[in-house]
Amino acid sequence: SGSSSSSSSLPSIILAGPSGAGKTALLTLFEKRAGRKTSPSSTDEKTASGAEPALTHTSQTPVSVELNAASFSSSDEDRKPRKFLLIDTPGHPKLRSTALNHLLPLDPKTGRPLPPSKTSHIKGVLFLLDASTLSPSSPDSSLSQTATYLYDLLLALQHRYSRHSKGSKHPPSIPVLIAANKLDLFTALPATLVKKELEAEIGRIRVSRSKGLLDSGVKEDVVDEKEEGDDWLGEYGSEKFEFRQMQEFDIEVEVVGGSVAGTEGPGVEGWWRWVVERV
Ligand code: GTP
Ligand code: MG
Repeated sequence: SGSSSSSSSLPSIILAGPSGAGKTALLTLFEKRAGRKTSPSSTDEKTASGAEPALTHTSQTPVSVELNAASFSSSDEDRKPRKFLLIDTPGHPKLRSTALNHLLPLDPKTGRPLPPSKTSHIKGVLFLLDASTLSPSSPDSSLSQTATYLYDLLLALQHRYSRHSKGSKHPPSIPVLIAANKLDLFTALPATLVKKELEAEIGRIRVSRSKGLLDSGVKEDVVDEKEEGDDWLGEYGSEKFEFRQMQEFDIEVEVVGGSVAGTEGPGVEGWWRWVVERV
């Protein structure tokens, strides 16, 4: 779809999620099936052209590939190419600002959010997670760190919506697809359970963070120019967190299962379809 922004950037999807979720593996698979090797673009990010992203290593730099939304299924092959960017980001906790800065870019001088028009080329977030380790009873469960990252990401999008300048329109929404990966493994939770576990854990994080705010003496300063509830994710004061509370901030959240590797799993078609509908 044609973008109305003045930005020359292609429509872009941000690939986010904790370390080891399979983001770079997914990028590589999409590139094999729908990519086109191009010379490095003029963006300040490295492209995957040339070297294959190393799957065995934690990503430290964002990598983007140019993909064609009109490929992947054979019936689409002859159609006019529809280019978009998939932007891989590192999942390591210390590097997560890479993804968040795409959604809520800050002015380097003032530290204040830049106008949301700077993000109008971003058409969605693919939040990938490892469903095979998500169960709270799994050894080394990834639930807590996955939910923490997702909480920060959703709060950034909520701020993007609610902190736009007074009198101006809300920015175009950025939908989130929670992609429950590794469903080829027998320990993997199905998408419905992934959703339930994440909602419960985000609810717990929400309670502990609101207590933290009250307990610390800095509350007055922090709240100074913000609305009450500004740092509360979802419906203010609600007891349970549910993803559909994000609709109040024009943020659509969906959970879809899939698998990048293995032959037993459901594959990546569901995620691809979601992406193609949004770029
Ligand atoms: P960071 O770069 O650290 O943020 O991690 P990442 O999300 O890019 O993870 P990466 O793509 O490097 O994948 C981590 C590991 O998971 C690799 O060994 C992949 O082969 C494996 N993996 C990815 N997808 C699947 C899957 O669907 N099933 C199984 N069984 N393994 C997978
Ligand atoms: Mg990676």
